[in-house]
Amino acid sequence: MAGGTAGMGKGLALHFLSRGDQVTVVGADPAKGRRFLDEAAALGAASRAAYIQADLTSVAANLRVIEEVKARHSALDGLVLTAVRHFPQRVETPDGFEGTFSLYYVSRLLLSYGLTGLLEKGADPMIVSICGVGMTKGEIHWDDLSLRQGYGSVKAMLQGGRATDLLGVAYAANHPGGRTRYLLHHPGFTDSGTDSLRQPAKTIIKLLAKVMAQPVGKSIQPIIELMDEPPAGRGLLAYDRRTPVPASTPTLDPGNARRLYEQTRHLLAALDQ
Ligand SMILES: NC(=O)c1ccc[n+]([C@@H]2O[C@H](COP(=O)([O-])OP(=O)(O)OC[C@H]3O[C@@H](n4cnc5c(N)ncnc54)[C@H](OP(=O)(O)O)[C@@H]3O)[C@@H](O)[C@H]2O)c1
Repeated sequence: MAGGTAGMGKGLALHFLSRGDQVTVVGADPAKGRRFLDEAAALGAASRAAYIQADLTSVAANLRVIEEVKARHSALDGLVLTAVRHFPQRVETPDGFEGTFSLYYVSRLLLSYGLTGLLEKGADPMIVSICGVGMTKGEIHWDDLSLRQGYGSVKAMLQGGRATDLLGVAYAANHPGGRTRYLLHHPGFTDSGTDSLRQPAKTIIKLLAKVMAQPVGKSIQPIIELMDEPPAGRGLLAYDRRTPVPASTPTLDPGNARRLYEQTRHLLAALDQ
């Protein structure tokens, strides 16, 4: 569970612990990790819960997480990808990626592909990427993925969202015979207590959330249902809450998915040289 120490990720983590599963969560803030482990202990699930501290904006941290998960688990039934934060100013990661692009997209790509071997050994395995699928705002800045020219936090978040959508399409295309389904899931506006915004946006979103957003418990219910009883067939699933998002949606274009996958592969290969 990448981003399992708060919001919907934590809601799902505690749900699966309470029904007897083993859960490993990843987050950057050790205080949130300790709180998660305390809550797991209060459920009587201390021995089935684990926390890995890692800043998933870095490629090296993702590779370490993959190794630690492989050391802890011999198979995975699910991989839930929820980690996201807002970067009001442009942040460049040690790998030269823009922060949102790295966390919302590159991390999810590394974890999805890096943990496929364990997922393929799991029971009806599924990767769940909680995102904004179905939204068509935003674009991939093909010639400036790291947004060096004209950064904006909303622009970065929208590009990250569109890239994460395309990751799901490319993953399904790259694993035609695989058992692992890839679910892109839009949970709707959720009062998850997100704390990565700066003022005044933080207060405005908190007030809006109190009035308009649904609680975490309600937002994660459709995800639990889709994980427990997936629709027939393998490959890509895309849902906005309980409504399927058509594969013909322009933001799920297979050609763009292939193009972004190839471009990212080259960027990651260049890091090794
Ligand atoms: N909330 C909504 O209204 C809404 C609507 C549509 C889509 N979504 C999508 O749903 C997903 C989950 O949202 P949420 O509101 O539940 O999130 P959240 O409450 O803000 O939780 C984010 C999680 O990501 C972790 N995280 C953040 N930065 C990290 C980093 N650098 N390295 C490792 N972990 C990191 C956080 O832990 P640490 O702080 O410990 O790092 C936390 O566990 C996101 O992908 C979001 O885009 C949310």
